Amino acid sequence: MNVLVTGGAGYIGSHTVVELLNAGHNAIIVDDLSNAKADVIDRIETITGKRPVFYKLDCKDKDGLRKVFSENQVDAIIHFAAFKAVGESVKKPLQYYRNNLDSAMAMLEVMEEFGCKKFVFSSSATVYGPNNPHPYKEEMKAIESSSPYGWTKVMIERILTDYCTAHPDFCAILLRYFNPIGAHESGLLGDDPNGIPNNLMPYIGRVAAGQLEKLTIFGDDYPTPDGTCQRDYLHVVDLAVGHLKALEYAENHEGVEAINLGTGNGISVLELVHAFETANDMKLPYVIGPRRDGDLPAFWADAGKAKTLLGWEATHTVEDMCRSSWNFAKNAGK
Ligand code: NAD
Ligand code: WQD
Repeated sequence: MNVLVTGGAGYIGSHTVVELLNAGHNAIIVDDLSNAKADVIDRIETITGKRPVFYKLDCKDKDGLRKVFSENQVDAIIHFAAFKAVGESVKKPLQYYRNNLDSAMAMLEVMEEFGCKKFVFSSSATVYGPNNPHPYKEEMKAIESSSPYGWTKVMIERILTDYCTAHPDFCAILLRYFNPIGAHESGLLGDDPNGIPNNLMPYIGRVAAGQLEKLTIFGDDYPTPDGTCQRDYLHVVDLAVGHLKALEYAENHEGVEAINLGTGNGISVLELVHAFETANDMKLPYVIGPRRDGDLPAFWADAGKAKTLLGWEATHTVEDMCRSSWNFAKNAGK
């Protein structure tokens, strides 16, 4: 297939492009590099021996998208392009709604012009909001969120659902990711956010590399076995493979389908810290701090639907995630 990957220079997008190329598909990347570096394209070529077509382009630019569709046969879209920092979205809601909603809308409008009918969307476990019990199941009705970022995912899921009702021959797969961590085994691709990381694993990586002094664990008085929050961490390469499975499914189906991509297991912050220390044979300086506003005590996926419908399940261990994260972080920025 010829797959247009928006946000394909980013963390999850770049790993997905590698899996696409390795599986014999062609990848066309559209990324404005607002949160990625141009050399990711070279790194993808180094890993796969193939160079993806690359357009430095804002997905909100419909004329730019029309040019991409005119110059390439596009069979399907994987839409990663979005701003993703939860805290920043609370401070800059308009930027988040504008970027995330308009880029999805512009893409759908141009897809319609060119008759492209397969759309795989980066949604998030955040759409289960604060009120559903875990494990989260796709059929849960309380789809809501607690941040403008999360609401953009809820709204785009709604837009895609309504679009599929109006166009029954269209297929939209809403992939609800849990907590992706880890990196490509080459050490060439990984999560390398600008500035001080918000997410746990890139923060741990900077502490391990001596670039930050210590990790602060946000609260140890939650109602969990060790008092720290539990999440469903999954390896980014497993997540990337999940996109290929979703594409294969979309090729032969119509309508909208929400699918969790997670392992189905909850891991606490302290467990992840200790797993990182063991996997990489090092000590990680940390202190216990206050809770972070908005954090839920615990959630993980019911991963059954992905297995039944897509034949996908996560295969990498927590040790794999910790080892590959460090293998990337120790060289990041060099
Ligand atoms: P990322 O920031 O590394 O990747 C997003 C990419 O999109 C970046 O390369 C950025 O430059 C690009 N981009 C942003 N706005 C754009 C625009 N208007 N036009 C073109 N390119 C644009 O983030 P990621 O972690 O790889 O996340 C990818 C997707 O997965 C996002 O939609 C994110 O919301 C979603 N997601 C991420 C996580 C996570 O924990 N990383 C969890 C659930 C969902
Ligand atoms: C994980 C755990 C923190 C940093 C976010 C988004 C979610 C999704 C994935 C996109 C929590 C703790 C963290 C630190 C810590 N993204 N922590 N010290 O909050 O589960 O999910 O990313 O859709 O929408 O909300 O991930 O990595 O920030 O935190 O103790 O310095 O690590 O409290 O328990 P989170 P995270």
